[in-house]
Amino acid sequence: MVKYLAAAVMLKMFSLNKFTRSSYRYLGNKFGQKKRQQQNIDMYVNRGDLLVQLIKKYSVFKDGGAAVELGTGWIHWFGLYLALHNDKKISLDLFDVWDNRQLDALKGAFNKLSCQWEHDTSKNTTQRNRLSSILSVNSFDELYRIFDAKYTIDNEGSLAGYPSTNYDLIFSFHVMEHINRDSIEESIEHMFRMLKPGGFCIHQIGIDDHLAHYDSKASQKNYLQFSLTKRKYLFENIVQYHNVLQGDDYQNLFRKKGFEIIEIDRERCDISRLTIHDDWSNYSREDLETTIFTIVCHKPANVNG
Ligand SMILES: C[S@@+](CC[C@H](N)C(=O)[O-])C[C@H]1O[C@@H](n2cnc3c(N)ncnc32)[C@H](O)[C@@H]1O
Repeated sequence: MVKYLAAAVMLKMFSLNKFTRSSYRYLGNKFGQKKRQQQNIDMYVNRGDLLVQLIKKYSVFKDGGAAVELGTGWIHWFGLYLALHNDKKISLDLFDVWDNRQLDALKGAFNKLSCQWEHDTSKNTTQRNRLSSILSVNSFDELYRIFDAKYTIDNEGSLAGYPSTNYDLIFSFHVMEHINRDSIEESIEHMFRMLKPGGFCIHQIGIDDHLAHYDSKASQKNYLQFSLTKRKYLFENIVQYHNVLQGDDYQNLFRKKGFEIIEIDRERCDISRLTIHDDWSNYSREDLETTIFTIVCHKPANVNG
């Protein structure tokens, strides 16, 4: 637990003011770039495959179409992975709250994918050409031109600037847990507004305790031992804000805003050794055990606006 506590203190300190927060981002990008260039992409490939499989299962794009990726991050992995695998060309809106893009890390990750594809007979010529084009770009603007993509930053995380009933899909991977509790309802309301009738949302959400990423000895749901107030006071920070909403909270929020939930998936962990605080007593055991929550929902086809 020493590493867990040290990480909590460090992240609180980085959250102190504007200067410490921008230092955190600067250092994170500078040192993270190297790490990202060397990282194993298996987890990215598995998650990307899940996205592609869900898109196909629900025929999300009937004839081309448009998608928004929220919290697209350092390497635009999921938006580009989707563009590589979708038969028809789609337009992509990539959204984030700060500019953390890293072209070298992006090309490094897709270069590793191209090595994996060398032995993969399921990929066709169009897909291989699209992948080669990622590896040959010299700038993000060039990449966006090839993939009909647009990158937007809004520091407040507001989706108000996006048009209504324009998108077939809004998706994210490990982003929704970072949306502030106070603004998450508004974000989901915008998603509903932005989707075409019959359009889909696919979100994979990290419900696990993110401080445990720094300490393998800590439980993946360590925060359940604390009251909400104590957790907020001791462990919440701005630079790696986590709203600790659970799977049921997300389901309720999406339903409340008009979505129909069509599929959920849970990765779970053992919490039998934890003494769970009463503040969490309204949640089911299954919900408390959940570490990664994937939700697929759609806007009913007969609804407008
Ligand atoms: C853990 S990273 C995941 C990045 C990317 N999805 C991936 O898996 O590589 C979380 C991302 O969410 C972004 N983010 C944080 N708060 C957000 C918000 N309110 N709306 C949209 N994105 C947000 C961060 O800037 C960061 O790029």
